[in-house]
Amino acid sequence: MEKIIGIIGAMDLEVEKLIEAMTDKETVEYGKRKFYVGKLSGVKTVLARCGVGKVNAGITVQMMVDKFGISAIINTGVAGSLNEKIDIGDIVLATGAVYHDVEAVAFGYKPGQVPQMDVFEFPTDENLVNLAEEACHKVNPDIKTFRGRVASGDQFIAAKEVKNRIKEQFDPMCVEMEGCAMAHAAYLNEIPCLIIRAISDKADDSAEMDYPTFEAKAAVHSAKMVLEMFKSL
Ligand code: ADE
Repeated sequence: MEKIIGIIGAMDLEVEKLIEAMTDKETVEYGKRKFYVGKLSGVKTVLARCGVGKVNAGITVQMMVDKFGISAIINTGVAGSLNEKIDIGDIVLATGAVYHDVEAVAFGYKPGQVPQMDVFEFPTDENLVNLAEEACHKVNPDIKTFRGRVASGDQFIAAKEVKNRIKEQFDPMCVEMEGCAMAHAAYLNEIPCLIIRAISDKADDSAEMDYPTFEAKAAVHSAKMVLEMFKSL
């Protein structure tokens, strides 16, 4: 299989820096999405902004698989921290992703389990996680990286009670709105997935205030890391 990496961010800021860095670039409109096709650090890449939320994320992965034949998918973006040790500015590399807003407990499934699905936590690719971690240490030496579970759902978490419920049920490192849908789509397409999330807020009462301030910084760190990582792909 030819190596073509898909990179998806939910928001413009999350993909802007990478679009700027792309060489041999062309844009392709497909459905209601714009895809940037070119090279990053010499590696064939397709970039897109998917929009916010699980359906946008999952569908954009599928579009990249069907239209461009991507062989791996990387999600970059921001997230709210759900762990006291993880601060604004730190980076979380997902070892797996779960849905915090799926529930069919009435049928005996545990919270987060998609009924009849053969996995609870959608896996990410360990090799890509290792490469991303090495790249981050190299280009962002002052930034701490963590490995662990990411929880996704169609909600911006900005209330203590909701945050605590997600922590208790899933014990994730951070919360965001797309990662699990991308890992799910990658799982069904049997391609490796990497989720890189820079912490923009603490998913509590201060979340709306912190988010815009730290989003831009986080985007710069993620982009630097991806460009470095692509040198060893
Ligand atoms: N992305 C960044 N911060 C978030 C939060 N608090 N909830 C959901 N998604 C986020």
